[in-house]
Amino acid sequence: MRKRVIAGNWKMYKTLSEAKDFVEQLREKQVDSSKVETVICAPALFLDQLVQATKDSFISIGAQTMHEEKEGAFTGEVSGHQLQDLGVSYVVIGHSERRQYFNETDDTVNKKVIAAFENNLTPIICVGETLEQREQNETESIVSAQVMAALEGLTEESVENSIIAYEPIWAIGTGKTATADDANDVCQAIRETILDGFGEEVASSVRIQYGGSVKPENIEELLSKEHIDGALVGGASLQADSFVKLLEAGE
Ligand code: G3P
Repeated sequence: MRKRVIAGNWKMYKTLSEAKDFVEQLREKQVDSSKVETVICAPALFLDQLVQATKDSFISIGAQTMHEEKEGAFTGEVSGHQLQDLGVSYVVIGHSERRQYFNETDDTVNKKVIAAFENNLTPIICVGETLEQREQNETESIVSAQVMAALEGLTEESVENSIIAYEPIWAIGTGKTATADDANDVCQAIRETILDGFGEEVASSVRIQYGGSVKPENIEELLSKEHIDGALVGGASLQADSFVKLLEAGE
């Protein structure tokens, strides 16, 4: 039985005081952490304070990206080593916005995933196709190739502890969601790819999220599908009340 994981990706939204207010409101809720893992992936400059503000709660804090080196002359970057030192526990890697605007490639994604595990961070590895690729029926081959590239060289244990987020690029922030059946089909294809590469035990344990215009109105149907183990949520994670509804659906 895979535990669901609902993660908010705040992207470049919120000020520090808004972030703290959100966490204060969320902490008042009773979320059953034995049923659903709650993660907030916040801008790097709030991570320290959010880790402190969520101590002894059901909420875990994640970063939105990291550099693969431990330290060095990389102006503006943050390393996995630094994230671990703050008490951050998750990190989004290879989000399509990072691939599109910051030149992340399958190769850098793989390096970051390896570095995440070296620093005890759980990577949330994003994969997904463009609209054009979907229209040309390339979705499964593109996504499977992204998954295998991201996981190259990892131990079975690390793969099992990774989280894969299937986010069709055309569904991000557009209000268009993949149908629950389409999302489930791609998540199943991801699981089969992992089965081929790493075996049955790993494939049946690894958690696969769907992301792309997830909201309180559609999450239940998405989570009812066999291969969808949670959600990576942008817009609907920005207000505490709507995020709570998503968590309740995951319980
Ligand atoms: O990482 C989450 C994401 O890209 C989806 O964003 O706003 O469509 O939920 P949104």
